[in-house]
Amino acid sequence: MRIVRVDNYKEMSKTASDIIKEQVILKKDAIIGFATGSSPLAVYECLAEDYKNKMVSFKKVRGFQLDEYYGLERLHSQSFYYYMKKNFMDKTDFDEANFEAFDALAADINKECSRYETLLAKSDGIDIQILGIGNTGHIGFNEPAETFPDEAHFVKLEKETIDANAKFFANTEEIPKYAFTLGIGSIMKAKKLIVLVNGRGKSDIIKKTLCGPITPKIPATVLRLHPDCTLIADKEALELVEDRLEEK
Ligand code: F6R
Repeated sequence: MRIVRVDNYKEMSKTASDIIKEQVILKKDAIIGFATGSSPLAVYECLAEDYKNKMVSFKKVRGFQLDEYYGLERLHSQSFYYYMKKNFMDKTDFDEANFEAFDALAADINKECSRYETLLAKSDGIDIQILGIGNTGHIGFNEPAETFPDEAHFVKLEKETIDANAKFFANTEEIPKYAFTLGIGSIMKAKKLIVLVNGRGKSDIIKKTLCGPITPKIPATVLRLHPDCTLIADKEALELVEDRLEEK
């Protein structure tokens, strides 16, 4: 794993967006795996800015959504689909028809997981997967478990994850308790991973991710086994592992 230590969120976002932009310039029909949440938000802002300045076009790019809350309408203000539409698709020339997403209202959840997994398997594979890390160590919505789930699946969210999402919903009943996510196997098959982490609040989970044993109980630890994984983190997120970084 390559660790890029940056000063702040802005630098983290610019560093990540430059890598993504270069990939799309080199391969116009690149496949990108899109994460949502606060960590990649400014990455999408930077990419939209680069598009505006005619430095890159996303017209031929295909996108795969990393995860989605179960039960929310596609254009619900908190759906991950809407997040991507509002923050990226509507601000660039990305063609919405090229965005693959879970059907959050699917009646048959197993069928929906297989549909999504098959779609991904039939593609040329994700060129760049953007990721954040949750406080439980989740990547996508792969919460701590006894094994690393391989394929797209349906998950019950951890209480800690539900609590972290509470601020975005008007009342507790509205907060989704379940979600669809790509599996760890699918994430690990992406050719390149860009992992974004910022803020002191993530320093504990970063220490466990980088220094503890590789275990499905902290799903993000598996990232250390990927052949091309770049973790871009600010100094606050890295503050508990500073000594180890300096040793290298
Ligand atoms: C979002 C996702 C999650 C987040 C993680 C960190 O699509 O898959 O794993 O990346 O919960 O969230 P933030 O970035 O809001 O701290």
